[in-house]
Amino acid sequence: MKPLLITIDGPAGAGKTTVSKALARCLGYRYVDTGALYRGVALAAKEKGVAPEDDDGLERLCTGLRLRFVVNEDGSRLFDGDRDISGLIRTSEISMLASAVSARPVVRKFLFDLQRRLGEEKNAVFEGRDMGTVVFPEAEVKFFLDASVEERARRRYDERSADETRTLEQIAEEIRTRDHNDRTRSHAPLKPANDAILLDSTAISIDQVVQSMLSRIKQVDF
Ligand code: DC
Repeated sequence: MKPLLITIDGPAGAGKTTVSKALARCLGYRYVDTGALYRGVALAAKEKGVAPEDDDGLERLCTGLRLRFVVNEDGSRLFDGDRDISGLIRTSEISMLASAVSARPVVRKFLFDLQRRLGEEKNAVFEGRDMGTVVFPEAEVKFFLDASVEERARRRYDERSADETRTLEQIAEEIRTRDHNDRTRSHAPLKPANDAILLDSTAISIDQVVQSMLSRIKQVDF
């Protein structure tokens, strides 16, 4: 099979992460979670007290960041320099802050360059919001994975950790807010690329989604 770059875009909670990891495993490809990079910027902004509207502050912040993925026995981990920040970026506060900083062109520009460098080797599955539209418009295979808000909220709720205090409706509301932010921002809004293959995981299992993707990939692998 010739080296491919595969992109999977879609809203929060549609199953992108599980699907992307499974697909990468089946193909022996690298898996790159670009949302983690936005979360890394959000974490740094929180720790340094930089507001999401402060473009100069965000630019300085990005210049000082050394974000990189390290694959070890715990899977793909995000490091800033020598510090493993993977565990710190998965909070609800960082989710909302990542959505806010991701609307700033200065942050998108910084991460665009970083993502392009990560894609140079191909043989990778890139998960995000604008992979097929902006970062890798030339990707060989593009998927857009969606699901209803109710189903996405239910999945998040079922997978909640023991210390989660939010109700199902609160989680649904947070998803609606992030969807709205991600879809309506003026820079690189969340939308399918014209040549993306649209899949909806509301009524089918993650495994079925992966199988369907694998058969589509075989068709385009000329
Ligand atoms: O996929 P995630 O929930 O970890 O992403 C966190 C935020 O980052 C999300 O609100 C939108 C943003 N994001 C983005 O704008 N572009 C990407 N390629 C990936 C994520």
